[in-house]
Amino acid sequence: MTEREQELMKQATLEVEKHQSSVQADKYRLDFHIMPPVGLLNDPNGFIDWNGTYHLFYQWNPFKTAHGAKFWGHYSSKDLVTWQSENTALAPSEWFEKNGCYSGSAIDHDGKLKLFYTGNVKDEQGNRETYQCLAESEDGITFTKKGVVLTLPKGYTAHFRDPKVWKHNDSWYMIIGAQSEQQEGKAVLFQSENLVDWQYRGAITGSHSDQLDEFGYMWECPDLFHLNGQDILIVSPQGLEPTGTYYQNTYQSGYFIGELDYETATYRHGSFTELDRGFEFYAPQTMVDRYGRRLLFAWMGVPEQYEDEHPTIDHHWIHAMTIPRELKLVGSKLYQKPVEELTNLRSEGVSYDRVTISEQGQTLAGIEGGAIELIIDDFAEHPNHFEINISETAKVVFDREQSLFTLERKKFTSDEVEVRQCALDELHSLRIYLDHSSIELFINDGEEVFTARIFPTGEQLLSFLSGQSVKCRIRKWDIHSIYK
Ligand code: FRU
Repeated sequence: MTEREQELMKQATLEVEKHQSSVQADKYRLDFHIMPPVGLLNDPNGFIDWNGTYHLFYQWNPFKTAHGAKFWGHYSSKDLVTWQSENTALAPSEWFEKNGCYSGSAIDHDGKLKLFYTGNVKDEQGNRETYQCLAESEDGITFTKKGVVLTLPKGYTAHFRDPKVWKHNDSWYMIIGAQSEQQEGKAVLFQSENLVDWQYRGAITGSHSDQLDEFGYMWECPDLFHLNGQDILIVSPQGLEPTGTYYQNTYQSGYFIGELDYETATYRHGSFTELDRGFEFYAPQTMVDRYGRRLLFAWMGVPEQYEDEHPTIDHHWIHAMTIPRELKLVGSKLYQKPVEELTNLRSEGVSYDRVTISEQGQTLAGIEGGAIELIIDDFAEHPNHFEINISETAKVVFDREQSLFTLERKKFTSDEVEVRQCALDELHSLRIYLDHSSIELFINDGEEVFTARIFPTGEQLLSFLSGQSVKCRIRKWDIHSIYK
């Protein structure tokens, strides 16, 4: 480790010590979501199940609740739900990463845990340089930097980052999020036999390609994987215009389903579908775990979307990860389900096996709490209208006549309401995770998902209302804290 690296890591540790009591005292801190010990967290990085331990790294600015020269923070877990904070994995100490060890991924090779990430460099005038870098570890905790393995190819601007690496047959592949010199977002493929020499295979798709018209000026955090016989490309495009209920956030995250021909480096794919229809969801990353499941974490935030309005800033921290989710391909749609292990975090439960939800609205004894899971299912008939009010801060509304599902919330700095919506014909079930200042809604077993931050001012109380006095089952569990 260089002296500079040691020094930066020490400063980060001091920053954690300095503010940890303030972070701990925040009523909005989360019990069962990964959050930064201090400062700003953004993208999930290097998510891997390695030698019997789950590792999740994250983009981290320890010094401010704003973006800057990112570190890689690190959590590990034996069971995917209780997490332990580990030493900082990467600090931006070298010339090729001096303005940030940006996002990337992890692989297992030769008994080592190898990280590929983007070295971000900016000069005084704000001119950018980008380098794809490698770091390795034998114990999964301490990393040795191996330096730059890939420089910027011709035809792209320096917005070229977030390498995701995987193996196919006997070769390694890397997909990178890019911007062409014509300001078009692209996903760019490379191939390597030794993980050090990388051959450019070309942009496999992107804005203004043979399969897409205008589709954003930059693509971030691509992830390409095989699921149920299909090649799925997840990506976070920037610059999509809002249309109808779509693309309402500042930036989007979604996927294409198709087939990647590795011989010709061509990807035939269908249309883009947003992964999450709520307010805060970006830069998801996936991996396959010991049981063969395709798992996903995402950043529960969106770049430049009310980032300076979060009340947690007063307590020296901002942002969190989503809960871990398992991906399933159902027809031509990716379903997201909370991982099974999350049920291990359940403690006290309250169950209403057959409750009539009235048209006037009602609360239910015991259906409340700061960190809870809620399942509403077994409807005796299809509800025409169903609402849940959450602490006068958020509201969930299903309207069958309009085939519309809505999540409303109060803005972070005023009582004004904002909405996110998606088309939905029928409501069969709702699974809701509430964690002091977040909500994740899984509709009809993960057919649609809404993720958002909410900042209730009082106790977290829920009330229910339905259009036609509908009978259903409502269960609630308190959720344990995941921090050791
Ligand atoms: C996405 C992103 C990535 C970049 C990282 C920097 O949120 O902008 O493209 O690598 O964050 O923190």
